[in-house]
Amino acid sequence: MKGKYSGITIGMSAGLIAVASLAMATGNGVDMEQYPYAPSLIQWEKSAAEFTEPETCAECHPQQYEEWRGSMHSIAFQDPIYQGELKLAIEAVGHDVAKQCEGCHTAAAVVNGEVKGAGLKDLSPLAMAGVSCDVCHSIKGHTHWQTPTHQPENGSMILSPGKEVDGEVILTKFGPFPASEDCGEGFHECVESPLHLKTELCASCHQVTHYEKHTPLEMTYTEWKNSTYAAKDINCQDCHMVDLETFKRSADTFQKPVRGEYHHYFNGANFLMYALTEMAAKKAGDEELAVSARQKYEMAVGRLQAAAELDIDPIYRDGRLAEVKIRVNNRRAGHNLPTSLTNIRQMWLEVTATDASGKVVMSSGHIDEKGKLPEGTRLFNSDGMGENMHFALDPWEIVSFSKHDTIPPKGYREVHYGLSSNSSTPITLNVKLRFRQANQKVAEKLLSHVPDDMHLDVIYGIKEVPPVPIIDMVEKTLQFETSEK
Ligand code: HEC
Ligand code: HEC
Ligand code: HEC
Ligand code: HEC
Ligand code: HEC
Repeated sequence: MKGKYSGITIGMSAGLIAVASLAMATGNGVDMEQYPYAPSLIQWEKSAAEFTEPETCAECHPQQYEEWRGSMHSIAFQDPIYQGELKLAIEAVGHDVAKQCEGCHTAAAVVNGEVKGAGLKDLSPLAMAGVSCDVCHSIKGHTHWQTPTHQPENGSMILSPGKEVDGEVILTKFGPFPASEDCGEGFHECVESPLHLKTELCASCHQVTHYEKHTPLEMTYTEWKNSTYAAKDINCQDCHMVDLETFKRSADTFQKPVRGEYHHYFNGANFLMYALTEMAAKKAGDEELAVSARQKYEMAVGRLQAAAELDIDPIYRDGRLAEVKIRVNNRRAGHNLPTSLTNIRQMWLEVTATDASGKVVMSSGHIDEKGKLPEGTRLFNSDGMGENMHFALDPWEIVSFSKHDTIPPKGYREVHYGLSSNSSTPITLNVKLRFRQANQKVAEKLLSHVPDDMHLDVIYGIKEVPPVPIIDMVEKTLQFETSEK
């Protein structure tokens, strides 16, 4: 039996009360005995059973391997944007804190002690593999409701790759289905785990809180939990582990996919990283990976373009055109739109109104030649604040938010733009909902901080950071008169 009182752990066993040393409680409010990798909240059921690299699983599960390879999970650790930010985190707050990051970006290599900082040098294939097969299929359970926020956060999962029975090591893999006969062919045992078809499997990593204050930073799980998708049992897997058409069906009809429809794509919105993966694969002469990365790129663009819809209505006052109302609907994202790194991702409206003579009478949200958005652009994002109440960008600095303007699932946001009725009629309005992973400056900052052993030129063939690409999620053009009929 264990209880926690003012940060001091009290353990009771066989009637004896042992008071753990004060050093056990850390400044981040978690019990170091329970969470030895804090600030990451991963737990490891330690035994002689080791984690297995994906290439070994691939021998018997080639389909899952091909689908996973090149996915965001497979590059979660090698991702240059991540490596750049990790290096900055270590410089700012030290490696003890950066364990938090690694606990999600390459969990197995944190618990086995291999990864100790930024960079890829001399790492095993397992460490390089990020969110690998054996991370997910060793998840035995979670501690979501025991965390400081009593929610999933910072890797609150229990990893157990296997066990020792009478001195013999047996690997156990947790999967969603009842084990077939001869499941694992002597390589591993199979354990049926209903958790694997539930959002709670993904939640440990898809909720990031501040390493010390536990301020919610990335809240994809909570956003989903508060949505109609949670009520209808449509889980992360039902949109992200299926192809585009099946995802739309899940979002529109709440019909659950069946066994053969699931794939290990883990495909979301990060088209930029798939484009980079394709470049790296081509450079390395890996044609198969290049093709797969291209397909994943197209799938991510497809997801973005299916996520939102626009409704546009002119508003007249006293019969004269006064403004236009644009409603942005989150149709098919199972969480807020955008989600997760909402202070970095950019989704915004670009609006252009032209009158009958072709003159631009109103415009908003056009980026300049340096890739910067003008003041007044309507962005659907959040702005973080540091201790000093000033704008902050980095996850170790943000302790609160001055703005949260993302769009809830099946919800909408409305934006009004003023128009003059003195323009020559009719007015043509072009509206785009645009998306990019980050603004130009942030991308340049992170990519200029990648560790020394990652040469962007050698890996990707990039000599300088190109303009961050933009995807148009929706575009609409319509015309209306300056006076009401
Ligand atoms: C609880 C798990 C978790 C923790 C802890 C965590 N991350 Fe992440 N990180 C994620 C997830 C999930 C994403 C993907 C979100 C998305 O794509 O919108 C992500 C995305 C990122 C990205 C964006 C990568 C890209 O290609 O756009 C960066 C950079 C990053 N994390 C850096 C860090 C750093 C540095 C830390 C530690 C200070 C950290 N993360 C801690 C889970 C985590
Ligand atoms: C992010 C977590 C995650 C990762 C990483 C992952 N899986 Fe899975 N896996 C799942 C989930 C969830 C399911 C259940 C959905 C399904 O059937 O595909 C699953 C199902 C499976 C199944 C059973 C499929 C069936 O229909 O019988 C196998 C086999 C499997 N995974 C192997 C692998 C291999 C091999 C890798 C690495 C190449 C891998 N997984 C990586 C989460 C993961
Ligand atoms: C020697 C071959 C072999 C290797 C290597 C192997 N597996 Fe399996 N595995 C099987 C067989 C056979 C099945 C049962 C048939 C199936 O579901 O595909 C299975 C089933 C599974 C299942 C589904 C369990 C269920 O019913 O829900 C998962 C998950 C899984 N393996 C994960 C892994 C992972 C992760 C690795 C690498 C760490 C791995 N396997 C390595 C042969 C293997
Ligand atoms: C062990 C931690 C972990 C688990 C468990 C996990 N993820 Fe992730 N996931 C990550 C990290 C880290 C990234 C971001 C990698 C990056 O950006 O470099 C990510 C990225 C993603 C992305 C891509 C996001 C984008 O921007 O395109 C999707 C989609 C995703 N995960 C879905 C899932 C689903 C569905 C599950 C559950 C079946 C799951 N994840 C379980 C850590 C995890
Ligand atoms: C109803 C379908 C649906 C469900 C359910 C769903 N998603 Fe998504 N997800 C989407 C769509 C569509 C996008 C692309 C638009 C966007 O970025 O929000 C997306 C994007 C993402 C991204 C990329 C965000 C970015 O900007 O890089 C991550 C990460 C993600 N989802 C994780 C999850 C996790 C974790 C769950 C479960 C808690 C989940 N999703 C549930 C449809 C869904």
